[in-house]
Amino acid sequence: MSPAFLGSNMNSQRWECCLALERLLLLHLFLATSIQGHSQRQVITVSGNNVSLHIPNLPALSRVTWFYTANQKIVEWESNRTNFFNSKFKNRASLNESYALCIYKVQKEDSSTYILRVLKDSGKEEDWTISLEVLDPVRKPGIKIQTLQEVNNSCHLKLSCEVSGQSANYTWYGDSGPLPTDLQSPVLEITVYQQNFSSYYTCQASNPVSSKNDTIYFSKLCKLAKSSGVAWIATWLIVMVPIVPGLLWT
Ligand SMILES: *[C@@H]1O[C@H](CO)[C@@H](O)[C@H](O)[C@H]1NC(C)=O
Ligand SMILES: *[C@@H]1O[C@H](CO)[C@@H](O)[C@H](O)[C@H]1NC(C)=O
Ligand SMILES: *[C@@H]1O[C@H](CO)[C@@H](O)[C@H](O)[C@H]1NC(C)=O
Ligand SMILES: *[C@@H]1O[C@H](CO)[C@@H](O)[C@H](O)[C@H]1NC(C)=O
Ligand SMILES: *[C@@H]1O[C@H](CO)[C@@H](O)[C@H](O)[C@H]1NC(C)=O
Ligand SMILES: *[C@@H]1O[C@H](CO)[C@@H](O)[C@H](O)[C@H]1NC(C)=O
Ligand SMILES: *[C@@H]1O[C@H](CO)[C@@H](O)[C@H](O)[C@H]1NC(C)=O
Repeated sequence: MSPAFLGSNMNSQRWECCLALERLLLLHLFLATSIQGHSQRQVITVSGNNVSLHIPNLPALSRVTWFYTANQKIVEWESNRTNFFNSKFKNRASLNESYALCIYKVQKEDSSTYILRVLKDSGKEEDWTISLEVLDPVRKPGIKIQTLQEVNNSCHLKLSCEVSGQSANYTWYGDSGPLPTDLQSPVLEITVYQQNFSSYYTCQASNPVSSKNDTIYFSKLCKLAKSSGVAWIATWLIVMVPIVPGLLWT
């Protein structure tokens, strides 16, 4: 592997960050929108990931500085010398040949608008910004029954599934697919009849980096299945059987 990297305070596996990025590309949403001809970049990622902040196609440069905030420098490169400043990034960042800043094991507190200030060979200085948003994976929601009321062969159902202390969007699913509800609201309130009741309701909580769900099962109109746990285990057995021989032969 090429030793031509610009610098890092870590002495092993310094290339992993950028390699990891390519493998984990699905977990990174790279959004670029053009603002006054300049690219405004945004990286959204899940905490614990290694992240690479990169401005492609930079011209020849004589100095490069990465800032965490306007007055907190992370690293400066000038005339082939790289200097990491005393910051929380000192032992977990590196700079590669194309001036990409790799940050290892990002945490929520690393969320910020990072600035790349470059001094071009022409003597002109220019700034680029990349906003990094680090999110924790959404926690598993738990469905709570607020109302379960049978009236005249209909069932009035009010279920909630909030993930506390985290912002998330909610989608509810039944037998016939997604149910029309307000994305921002963790509450499902519906009236169903014999002809359109569902044998289960799944609440899916999601944020831009992850999603988790919970399901509640019904045996008939307005009657909860005796044990939702049994249904869950049965599903797992069906899924596991074809997988196990597959694992043995690979
Ligand atoms: C981040 O990089 C480190 C060091 O190169 C590596 O050991 C680790 O597996 C990487 N983590 C992820 C989530 O890719
Ligand atoms: C530096 O890292 C960036 C982002 O991962 C990558 O696109 C680029 O190819 C790397 N440059 C070199 C010289 O490895
Ligand atoms: C910087 O390093 C490159 C490759 O290592 C070398 O070709 C170049 O002459 C160096 N530039 C300066 C200003 O030292
Ligand atoms: C149930 O049906 C009866 C007779 O059809 C009707 O009088 C009553 O108002 C209904 N109750 C509700 C809550 O809709
Ligand atoms: C079930 O059907 C009734 C009557 O056809 C309708 O009013 C109700 O909105 C339906 N419920 C759902 C959840 O689709
Ligand atoms: C919820 O969905 C809206 C619209 O798609 C999106 O803008 C917002 O970021 C989402 N919020 C979360 C916490 O995922
Ligand atoms: C619910 O989560 C399980 C894994 O925990 C996943 O296999 C399933 O597709 C999810 N269902 C929905 C409706 O998101």
